[in-house]
Amino acid sequence: MEAERSFLLIMAVAAMVVTVGGQGSGTKPLVKVLKGGLKVCDKGWECKGWSKYCCNQTVSDFFQTYQFENLFAKRNTPVAHAVGFWDYRSFITAAAVYQPHGFGTAGGKLMQMKEVAAFLGHVGSKTTCGYGVATGGPLAWGLCYNKEMSPSKSYCDDDYKYTYPCTPGVEYFGRGALPIYWNYNYGEAGEALKVDLLNHPEYIEQNATLAFQAAIWRWMTPVKKQQPSAHDVFVGTWKPTKNDTLAKRIPGFGATMNVLYGDSVCGQGDVDSMNNIVSHYQYYLDLMGVGREEAGPHEVLTCAEQEAFNPSSSSSSSSSS
Ligand SMILES: *[C@@H]1O[C@H](CO)[C@@H](O)[C@H](O)[C@H]1NC(C)=O
Ligand SMILES: *[C@@H]1O[C@H](CO)[C@@H](O)[C@H](O)[C@H]1NC(C)=O
Ligand SMILES: *[C@@H]1O[C@H](CO)[C@@H](O)[C@H](O)[C@H]1NC(C)=O
Repeated sequence: MEAERSFLLIMAVAAMVVTVGGQGSGTKPLVKVLKGGLKVCDKGWECKGWSKYCCNQTVSDFFQTYQFENLFAKRNTPVAHAVGFWDYRSFITAAAVYQPHGFGTAGGKLMQMKEVAAFLGHVGSKTTCGYGVATGGPLAWGLCYNKEMSPSKSYCDDDYKYTYPCTPGVEYFGRGALPIYWNYNYGEAGEALKVDLLNHPEYIEQNATLAFQAAIWRWMTPVKKQQPSAHDVFVGTWKPTKNDTLAKRIPGFGATMNVLYGDSVCGQGDVDSMNNIVSHYQYYLDLMGVGREEAGPHEVLTCAEQEAFNPSSSSSSSSSS
């Protein structure tokens, strides 16, 4: 009897050790204390680089393989268009580069989980092939695509011929997790990621880690200088100015759509293009066990009434084009 108990105890200890070394939950960070007393950490491939944000729970602690599989349940069914491409490890490997800057690691556990759901909500809505009567429901089909299937043009803008000239024969149609379009966007993302995307936009459709990395870079980086990023408006490090308040721009998920898509989805009431992104976010909040009620009231969750940070018509009037 006694021997049996200590055997069980040994098994329990062994299981704990395995968890520590395994994927996610409980990975021990390397810790050091900087001059001035700031504690910084590094968690290897899960939170890469010395940062205070790597010391506490990181994304792989609260978002694990089975959750990724739940959110994107249909992506590997035969009718999907990027079978075998997207996986959990690519997401975490890409996220690890931005977690030291606060991606999924800022604001405490609830905010962290909400940010991952919010980012993936955008991703799901941009890569879905779900429709009303699809099996599993229309929201189960995120990450169905990794590129635009029948591009109608090559997305080469000659206005950028000196900064981001199009490479002959190369097409800049939509690719990725938050799809990139146009030569100048591939050029800018490539500079930031130190990958030659202007000459090789196809790298995005060949490498899921790079595709997620480009998407998280977009999420973490202001579209224009002096403006907040989607991350900033979501976690609340952005403080609205008086003008923002007058334009009904307040921190939250709604403002992330404003940062990323402006008046193509915002400021037009409850339109489908906006509601589709919102629905993916709510669905993921539920699946992650956070619950959609944590998304906040309508004016925080949506951008139905918000004026764009960057109006597409540059007229001085605030009405949308
Ligand atoms: C990490 O956790 C500690 C203790 O709970 C907390 O005081 C600190 O603010 C957290 N750091 C970050 C970057 O969230
Ligand atoms: C995919 O992209 C990542 C991130 O840029 C890079 O580290 C990795 O080497 C790439 N993989 C391949 C097979 O090129
Ligand atoms: C606020 O809006 C007014 C009128 O559009 C503009 O002149 C002013 O520069 C804006 N202020 C800031 C801080 O953006």
